[in-house]
Amino acid sequence: MTDSRIPTARLGDTGPEVGLQGLGCMGMSFAYGPSDAKESRAALERALELGVTLYDTADAYGAGANEEFLAPFFRAHRDEVVVATKFALSIPADDPTRRVVRNDAPYVRRAVEASLKRLDVDVIDLYYMHRRDPEVPIEDTVGVMAELVREGKVRHLGLSEVTADELRTAQGVHPIAAVQSEWSLFSRDIEDRVVPAARELGVALVPYSPLGRGFLTGSFADADKDLTADDFRRRQPRFTGENAAANAALLEPVRAVARAHDATPAQIALAWVQLRAGVHGLPVVPIPGRGRRAGWRRTSGRRPWN
Ligand SMILES: NC(=O)c1ccc[n+]([C@@H]2O[C@H](COP(=O)([O-])OP(=O)(O)OC[C@H]3O[C@@H](n4cnc5c(N)ncnc54)[C@H](OP(=O)(O)O)[C@@H]3O)[C@@H](O)[C@H]2O)c1
Repeated sequence: MTDSRIPTARLGDTGPEVGLQGLGCMGMSFAYGPSDAKESRAALERALELGVTLYDTADAYGAGANEEFLAPFFRAHRDEVVVATKFALSIPADDPTRRVVRNDAPYVRRAVEASLKRLDVDVIDLYYMHRRDPEVPIEDTVGVMAELVREGKVRHLGLSEVTADELRTAQGVHPIAAVQSEWSLFSRDIEDRVVPAARELGVALVPYSPLGRGFLTGSFADADKDLTADDFRRRQPRFTGENAAANAALLEPVRAVARAHDATPAQIALAWVQLRAGVHGLPVVPIPGRGRRAGWRRTSGRRPWN
């Protein structure tokens, strides 16, 4: 019998072994309009069957609601899944356009306890700093994160949206398993400095929004016209008005490649991100967001950088 599970990759020199593609769970409770809990639970189970083991959430997603939503799934499959969550960012309920960032030690300690409780786990497998507060030295924040590892509350450390210099400084305090940043056909800024630094330091890249927040799938063209009023993408200028029209034209080559390979634009966008591993010589484990089962098909059996 052939194994239908996807291949695995190690998250950096020190991190856990995970399925070569993870699952971003944010949209199951937050940001992208109405969600469907039953479909999301089915998507989680289907992803696991296919060998997806890295599940990504954050305390900020729905002010803890996303962590709580995932808890029963993690409880049912604790030994098979790698639980990744984040601290630092909160979104005031009375003003969803605002972001509050905290990196100080007392805050991090309160945040980890709250996440452990909501996730209903004894230890978080991968704990990320979600955003950097420039007022707090990164050595101090990673210092307290390292204490959490020593205390057994957290297994591995990650950083989201840091610069190459911040990553270097952090790595001097404690090994960092992964950097999580936006990386897709649509968003390539990290290739200049962050990706080379991660490669040099033995840190994996976990690209978030590898489908350009859904835009690269072709499922919407103009957020104002095609998405519900509560969808966070309506506040992102790249998805509305003239910008959306200009960006929609850029999708044509993706559609053409998809047609040539009898694939969907979503599969082409994901394949492009997966292939960055070989191009840049480091492990790359994207976390596409998918709140339903459709689209989950195994397409390749090889580690792209081998
Ligand atoms: N560190 C950070 O600052 C940060 C920021 C943003 C996101 N993230 C993480 O990264 C994860 C992924 O990012 P993302 O959700 O923003 O973006 P994404 O993966 O680029 O796109 C997700 C969107 O694509 C749609 N989609 C997925 N597969 C599809 C398919 N085959 N056909 C049509 N549509 C499809 C999803 O729809 P459905 O929902 O209907 O399935 C969803 O609306 C998040 O869940 C979160 O865990 C981290």
